[in-house]
Amino acid sequence: MRICIVGAGYVGLTTAAALADFGHEVLCVDMEESKINSLRQGKVPIYEPGLDDLITKNVKNNKLFFSSLVEESIKEYPVILIAVGTPSKDDGSSNLMFVHRVIDVIASTTNVYKIIITKSTVPPGTNEWIHKRLIEKGIDEDLFDVVSNPEFLREGFALRDLYHPNKIVFGTKTSRPIKNLKKLYYRGKAPYIFTSLTGAELIKYASNAFLATKISFANEMARICDAYEVDYDDIAKGIGTDPRIGRYFLNSGLGFGGSCLPKDLSSLKHSAVKKNVETKLLDAVREVNDTQIDLYLNKLTTELPDLTGKRITIWGVTFKPDTDDLRSSPAVMMIKKLLEKGCQVHAYDPMVQLELTGVYSHTNQYESVKNSDALIISTEWQQFLETDWAEVKSRMKGTIVLDARNCLDGKLVRKFGFLYLRIG
Ligand code: UGA
Repeated sequence: MRICIVGAGYVGLTTAAALADFGHEVLCVDMEESKINSLRQGKVPIYEPGLDDLITKNVKNNKLFFSSLVEESIKEYPVILIAVGTPSKDDGSSNLMFVHRVIDVIASTTNVYKIIITKSTVPPGTNEWIHKRLIEKGIDEDLFDVVSNPEFLREGFALRDLYHPNKIVFGTKTSRPIKNLKKLYYRGKAPYIFTSLTGAELIKYASNAFLATKISFANEMARICDAYEVDYDDIAKGIGTDPRIGRYFLNSGLGFGGSCLPKDLSSLKHSAVKKNVETKLLDAVREVNDTQIDLYLNKLTTELPDLTGKRITIWGVTFKPDTDDLRSSPAVMMIKKLLEKGCQVHAYDPMVQLELTGVYSHTNQYESVKNSDALIISTEWQQFLETDWAEVKSRMKGTIVLDARNCLDGKLVRKFGFLYLRIG
């Protein structure tokens, strides 16, 4: 198939590389000319394991192309896959400006049949709106099909998720595009879920809201465990073996961040309220998440009551390991709170040099702890799990290690003379 992917962001690029690798001819377009120029020179603007090589391979095989000529490209291709950003507005709703722009270009250029696939996460009703909008703009219903095809990729595992998805969701208005849609993805074992346009949109939101709920549940349980001096890991293990619950997304810590879970939770709430539906559970999920950082700070101040002037080292600044993404990173929020309290913050991350006024960013994990009063682990990079604690001990001034991702072996860390703190 010949596919034009609009948007060379995280979703657009990973999907473009994978679809080209599945044998399609893929043109990835973005109005940001500098980004397209870099991509043409083989420079990938995001870090995702395996993506550089996959792009290089498919560009070389003449399967993957890049262009900044959005209008011309959309006109030329029979399948348009929309992967533009849908950031949050101040009121929590999704800003659909970029989607609207693409639809207007499609409306002004379509004169032969096209399949228009929305991959961007959009609120319930958006794809119905797209369908209506195209008709209002004078495009005959026979000339297009709108399809809602949400993505479920995890950053850091995006290619694995694209090659081995656990489901492929297509929302359509009629069965007309289904034959072609089945040719789109790798013919693996993933079940197809066909539903309405709005049904597909809601599957995406329900999925991320459920994952967020699991995390906040885990964090609340960890609080209770902490009060009873019980190891929360035992609880996660104990309940996680029940297939009805499952072990995934039960890790407690600083809470969920990133560009999806917080944003999608707000947008879903907004969509619900618009229809006068109460969202008590979603509100509670948000509230637990929003209070995690203060809880960890309280843990720190029970041992170090006056943080003013204290030298604190933070390991991990990205919102989770194996990514360079800082969007809504709980670690960065924690750093900002430490700065407000007058701390001297030193940061180390295996992937990112944090540029934030008042923060000393290091390129060496062990250098970063020199003379520190406390060390906080805020992202569970594998490297931190393999730390040489004797080396850390010899460099630090204080003895506090606050494990804000509950990822270290506490017994081991204590053996080196540290005061090991965590919640649960
Ligand atoms: C999430 C979903 O997992 C994907 O399925 C979805 O496609 C994507 O959003 C999206 O909507 O595009 P992602 O944002 O890459 O993927 O990250 P996750 O792995 O879901 O992690 C989100 C946050 O939850 C991170 O801050 C992570 O540290 C936190 N988390 C995750 C926990 O605190 N505990 C856990 O047990 C798991």
